[in-house]
Amino acid sequence: MTLLTVRRDGEIAVVTLDNPPVNAISEAVRKELFEMVGQLDADPGVRAAVLICAGRTFLAGADVREFGKPPVEPHLPEVVDRIEGAEKPWVAAIHGAALGGGFEIAMGCRFRIAVESARVGLPEVTLGVIPGASGTVRTPRLAGIETTVDLVTSGRPMPAGKALKAGLIDAVVSDLERDAVAFARAALDAELPLPVSQRPLAPMPEAFWQDARKRAAKPGHQAPLRALDSLRFATEHDFAEAMEHERETFLDLRGSDEAAALRHIFFAERAAPKPSALKGIEPRPVRTVGVIGGGTMGAGIAGACREAGMEILLIERDDEAVTRGLANVGKIFDSAVKRGKLSAEDRAGRMAGVRGSTDYADLADADLVIEAVFEEIGVKRAVFAELGRVCRADAVLATNTSYLDPRAIAEGLPDPSRFIGLHFFSPAHIMKLLEIVPTPDTAPDVLATGFALGRALNKMPVQAGICEGFIGNRILKRYRAEAEALVKQGVAIAEIDAAMRGYGFRMGPFEAQDLGGLDIAFLQREGARAEGQDVPETLGDILVRAGRKGQKTGGGWYDYAEGDRTPKPSASVATLLADRVSGSAALSGPEIADRLVGAMAAEGEAILREGIAQSPQDIDLVEIHGYGFPRWKGGPMFAAGMTASAR
Ligand code: COA
Repeated sequence: MTLLTVRRDGEIAVVTLDNPPVNAISEAVRKELFEMVGQLDADPGVRAAVLICAGRTFLAGADVREFGKPPVEPHLPEVVDRIEGAEKPWVAAIHGAALGGGFEIAMGCRFRIAVESARVGLPEVTLGVIPGASGTVRTPRLAGIETTVDLVTSGRPMPAGKALKAGLIDAVVSDLERDAVAFARAALDAELPLPVSQRPLAPMPEAFWQDARKRAAKPGHQAPLRALDSLRFATEHDFAEAMEHERETFLDLRGSDEAAALRHIFFAERAAPKPSALKGIEPRPVRTVGVIGGGTMGAGIAGACREAGMEILLIERDDEAVTRGLANVGKIFDSAVKRGKLSAEDRAGRMAGVRGSTDYADLADADLVIEAVFEEIGVKRAVFAELGRVCRADAVLATNTSYLDPRAIAEGLPDPSRFIGLHFFSPAHIMKLLEIVPTPDTAPDVLATGFALGRALNKMPVQAGICEGFIGNRILKRYRAEAEALVKQGVAIAEIDAAMRGYGFRMGPFEAQDLGGLDIAFLQREGARAEGQDVPETLGDILVRAGRKGQKTGGGWYDYAEGDRTPKPSASVATLLADRVSGSAALSGPEIADRLVGAMAAEGEAILREGIAQSPQDIDLVEIHGYGFPRWKGGPMFAAGMTASAR
């Protein structure tokens, strides 16, 4: 045995698994656990076993890397059965997380105890599968059907305290190993409970399942409903039949596109926050953050940083603007209070750490300053000229520009090595994506600081190179252009939006523009034209020139009735665009989606070739976390077959 070690505490065998980083259940782990049961059963000096893990967590689940490969024996259900069938009772001692297969192994044990900070759960649906080793069959016998519905259809883990009340675990303890041994010893003096698989289970009425189906259904995802079906089957059949059914469903889903896409994103999300190029590079500490500009974006950034425990200084140009900026930050915390996420007392504590000022000199102690002022190069340069004068020499200075060239913004800054682009997405306290844009002068530890900030803020940090729109907005532009190209070929605007909704976006490209306003991109194109750039006229330009800027003007790509946000196909738009539409293409929804996603992927490929993105995975994360691309499709690069992930 190389992953398991055994220590004896009297008649109790303490079996420790050490398979870093998260004790995932690989083929070797399954094998060793299987053999360990026999070994301990054969040892007359052992009366019970404690299963505990080294490192940060209990078994975090099946090894997801093996999901794309053919299953190898012993399969996990056999390992769980073997532990449950042991002559000597096993006690699972849980810290960190017991997830998926990890919790299924814990259910094979006769008892489960956990420290308070531990979580247990069955997150398989988040990977497009269902539990495959009795999650839908043992769990209802252990904790009832209602708790199981919640666990297997949401995939959300449950904290130890709640899991104890639900009957998923038997005790919450403080000193895990010591208390587990004591628990095992005490258990031997009493009658043992039935193994979970032998506990009774009563079926539920039809109405219960209908209601559960309604609550579990998630557009685009088949796994939650399949998990529910498997659970229902388990309540209406015997244990062995239910296990077979669950396994079949698991294996079927494991090979699905949805599961492959979600696995791809699982690994991409874990890799992105810690790029290998930055390994060993210490980020600069960030405790105090200056934010220049208290508008929606600045306030959102301030709110996000404050939430992560940083002290904030918000700079605005006059007292009135400072008051408005602070109020904007206050509104963010108010909404958290309203949603029950923050107490009134904590809100006060949050605001106590946000100061406002009109004086740049107050930034003398800031570790990081993020500029979020008007998108105009002169205004931004003036800000950085001032920051260059007042900030500490080692303070990191960042711009939140979306479209301007960060190199041009940093021109004239005495030490450009501490300058970087940090592109947040609005609302910045909610949106996960953070594009990190170093210039050729940015020092490695400044780049590392950007990533450390992303992690601290619980964002998805992705490095982007310098080009117009970086990764996300550049692809957005191509996406919109392709959508307009379809309109020119005669595809109805509403059909295009419906096709993209059908694909999994919450909104199609045109209704999204109507919501956000067509004028922002228009003004930007006009700005480029004024500078002499050759920017061809778009259909959107024609609409804006006709006063159609979106919902706020009562119409954009669609018409809107007063006080109603429902888009209605517009005869005026048809007239305005009539001489640009030269075809009568008939495309199905999936064909439209293919065209648009294909265009996004083609732009992504160009972005990769130019070195603007580090990997196709990064592009997929940008689209999923910043632009509403459906997660279960894996992002445009994955959907177009351009990533070599474990399929
Ligand atoms: N299989 C294979 N590798 C896994 C894994 C799994 N089930 N769970 C995590 N890892 C890997 C990650 O890819 C990462 O690898 P890296 O260091 O090479 O990048 C490493 O373990 C650490 O994971 P991370 O998520 O960064 O650690 P954490 O301490 O923040 O969180 C967990 C720990 C267990 C809470 C978290 O990893 C998790 O939720 N894992 C998924 C569990 C799951 O879904 N299990 C059910 C599978 S059916």
